[in-house]
Amino acid sequence: MTSEHTSGLFHENHLVTLQQHIMEQQAYHPTATGEFSWLLSGITQASKIIAAKVRRAGLQDIIGSLGKENIQGEDVQKLDVFANDCLIQSLAYRGNVGILASEENDEPVVIHDSGPQGRYAVLFDPLDGSSNIDVNVSIGTIFSVLERPSGGFSRNDPLADLLQPGVRQRAAGYVIYGPSTLFVYTTGQGVHFFTLDPGTGAYILYRERVTIPESGDIYSVNESNFTEFPRAVQEYLRHIKTSEEPSYNSRYVGSFVADFHRTLLKGGIFLYPQTRKAPGGKLRLLYECNPMAFLVEQAGGMATDGRQRILEIQPKTLHERTPLFIGSPTQVKEAMAFVEKDSGEGA
Ligand code: AHG
Ligand code: MN
Ligand code: MN
Repeated sequence: MTSEHTSGLFHENHLVTLQQHIMEQQAYHPTATGEFSWLLSGITQASKIIAAKVRRAGLQDIIGSLGKENIQGEDVQKLDVFANDCLIQSLAYRGNVGILASEENDEPVVIHDSGPQGRYAVLFDPLDGSSNIDVNVSIGTIFSVLERPSGGFSRNDPLADLLQPGVRQRAAGYVIYGPSTLFVYTTGQGVHFFTLDPGTGAYILYRERVTIPESGDIYSVNESNFTEFPRAVQEYLRHIKTSEEPSYNSRYVGSFVADFHRTLLKGGIFLYPQTRKAPGGKLRLLYECNPMAFLVEQAGGMATDGRQRILEIQPKTLHERTPLFIGSPTQVKEAMAFVEKDSGEGA
């Protein structure tokens, strides 16, 4: 059957669901049995429920704030809590998830602290881009999967088992609730895109082994923080704005998932440097920066905090933040050159 005769649902003439694709990925992980795909199906199940809620945000009392703050000191949106509850409910009964950690929970949620049931830890930002919920702009869910240390999660200090550098991630990905609902993931064998087919409720493969352009002409930063950025970052941005070849365009959505997804597809750089308000950066290492750094490296890109690979940072606390420079190698290397030059001259 040639492709013009298919309904467009078929990838290279055959329909590949996310479950099939994850099972195929298992082949690369001899140690992982079907339980890995079972775990990821917990995330996709939650994402479908969240997507349905997002689609009805205007029709149900799901827009707006709960009038309370989370550990991040941020105003908690109703959809933040709904998404968080969905993920906890879906993952807690997968039978192989020992610990859950969420942006919305001060402490980790221990499900099983030992044995095969406690094999994996899932860390997530249940709803990224909350400030955009009320204005109908794309938002998302970001997740990261770690395996417990060989000795098992320590009963009295589950946190210690979560504070692993990003290079130890077993899987990472995001869901973007935009004009279509996309599930993007990697298990270390490339980055793959799936579209949720509302008709069947199945995620269908539509791009495999996605790579980021080596160079791109889009930079993405919250310019209102310019005067608070380190001198080197200000120098870099001045350079970008006067560059002729390439001549850069600026795009900033304000949802990390959306800004990252565009950077992955079109290339360029997204940066959230340290500011006076956020001296350690704003984005959280464990469940925003590490997953995206894993994905971007799998796609041939780079992610640093200005000095080191994001994936090599040894986390000290669950909700710690980091400055972030992520995107095409050409742009990230150039930004780093400005940072290094500045530190060479004494920051
Ligand atoms: P969250 O909604 O999970 O708190 O994340 C918001 C983050 C991220 O999505 C985005 O890149 C960044 O906040 C935007 O921050 P500014 O509004 O300070 O630019
Ligand atoms: Mn976020
Ligand atoms: Mn969030």
